[in-house]
Amino acid sequence: MAKVKKSRAKVVNAARVEVKSEVKPGVKSASPAHHDGSIEPAKGKLGVMIPGMGAVATTFVAGVEAVRKGIAQPIGSLTQMGTIRLGKRTDGRSPKIKEFVPLAGLNDLVFTGWDIFEDNMYAAAQNAGVLERDLLAKVKGRLSAITPMKAVFDHNYVKKIDGPNVKKGKNKLDLAEQLRQDIRDFRKSSGASRLVTIWCASTETFIEPSAAHQSLKALEKGMKENDENIAPSMVYAYASLMEGVPFANGAPNLTVDIPAMHELAHERELPICGKDFKTGQTLMKTVLAPAFKARLLGLSGWYSTNILGNRDGEVLDDPGSFKTKEESKLGALEHILQPALYPELYGNIFHKVRINYYPPRGDNKEGWDNIDIFGWLGYPMQIKVDFLCRDSILAAPIVLDLVLFLDLAQRTPELRRLGIQEWLSFYFKSPMTAPGLYPEHDLFIQLIKLKNTLRHLKGEELITHLGLEYYD
Ligand SMILES: NC(=O)c1ccc[n+]([C@@H]2O[C@H](COP(=O)([O-])OP(=O)(O)OC[C@H]3O[C@@H](n4cnc5c(N)ncnc54)[C@H](O)[C@@H]3O)[C@@H](O)[C@H]2O)c1
Repeated sequence: MAKVKKSRAKVVNAARVEVKSEVKPGVKSASPAHHDGSIEPAKGKLGVMIPGMGAVATTFVAGVEAVRKGIAQPIGSLTQMGTIRLGKRTDGRSPKIKEFVPLAGLNDLVFTGWDIFEDNMYAAAQNAGVLERDLLAKVKGRLSAITPMKAVFDHNYVKKIDGPNVKKGKNKLDLAEQLRQDIRDFRKSSGASRLVTIWCASTETFIEPSAAHQSLKALEKGMKENDENIAPSMVYAYASLMEGVPFANGAPNLTVDIPAMHELAHERELPICGKDFKTGQTLMKTVLAPAFKARLLGLSGWYSTNILGNRDGEVLDDPGSFKTKEESKLGALEHILQPALYPELYGNIFHKVRINYYPPRGDNKEGWDNIDIFGWLGYPMQIKVDFLCRDSILAAPIVLDLVLFLDLAQRTPELRRLGIQEWLSFYFKSPMTAPGLYPEHDLFIQLIKLKNTLRHLKGEELITHLGLEYYD
């Protein structure tokens, strides 16, 4: 008998060894035992650099100033209001996230940005028309002091707008060098100990991954030769990473989601994430679709349309920019519903997304969804969603959280060396993942992933929701 036991033990060990050897290099176990425990403290100021000082950027900065002054609440921000359960349900430990991990405080944030228009942040916020004049007046001093640096811009990538505040250079590499100088200057003038860049500029025209994107060498050569597949957003991303600054992409452009940028981020241990803030309609989609799949309800069609009257809406009226957005919005359903696994339920879905520029609504978008589902024995049903939302009000807390979490990642060796920060998928319509890995779109899986990442970093038990021990 003893012999049998021993050989069984050997089999178990062999199986363990086999499982271990299947783990790909660079993909680490999520066990708390593996975290290296070192998160550098958030000492000094954090400089936030924003290409695109439009509706989202100004609503974010004005909001941070208002919260600092104590005249408003940071509603919608997980870093400011969210809690995290630690240990068992019976332990009663649910600290605020900002008390659990060392995040920069709002008082430590300093801002700068680039735009093709010369308006300072106060004037730009007035033009955007998102926030009330009374509120803006209370933060006017700070906002007026933020004037945009000259942008790297090319009308061919954003057809609906043009502006005077644009850099000139002999090629894209030269423009990148000018941006790098801006970054160095801001680091010095602001006294910031750390920086992050977050793209809040217009959606660029659709670009397919091409040869110039495949390696850092090809990208630099392409920039020198003004390759048309290298968009201005890529020039910003390159400049940031070369200056050692993490980069988040709030728009659906490829930008940092190309092999050359992955390489740069990985080599220099710089956090990157994107694409496209998940705010209104896609937020709802990634909540409802998981519910259908959980209950095995079929889906035959999902028609989504929007009316939007801000500058973003105007930019998206151009077919090239719309195509970039459309691709980003369409991906979520396919990945959540997994038609290959459930062909009877999701094998034949008609999914349509429209965005219509309608100036009277300004930033107050209306997103309609008509959803055709079917249940038991194939009987059809319909769901209508009419979300009268405010685009930038939904986006601003996402910008804040991304800034603070990217900064956390750059102070955490275990995260920064990954480059792509998939744990921040929660905030994106089209989350960046390692090449070949399908993205998680389900909002609640994304939230569990985010919170488990934080627990893991702090050496806390991951929460699996198994819960058998409560009944022992
Ligand atoms: N608000 C939302 O809910 C939401 C959600 C997801 C994504 N987004 C994306 O966020 C971005 C910003 O949205 P917004 O509503 O603030 O738009 P906006 O038009 O108000 O602001 C964009 C700003 O970017 C500037 N710009 C364009 N190209 C630039 C460049 N190359 N360099 C510097 N500045 C440049 C424009 O002049 C403009 O001021 C858009 O790409 C939008 O698609 C917004």
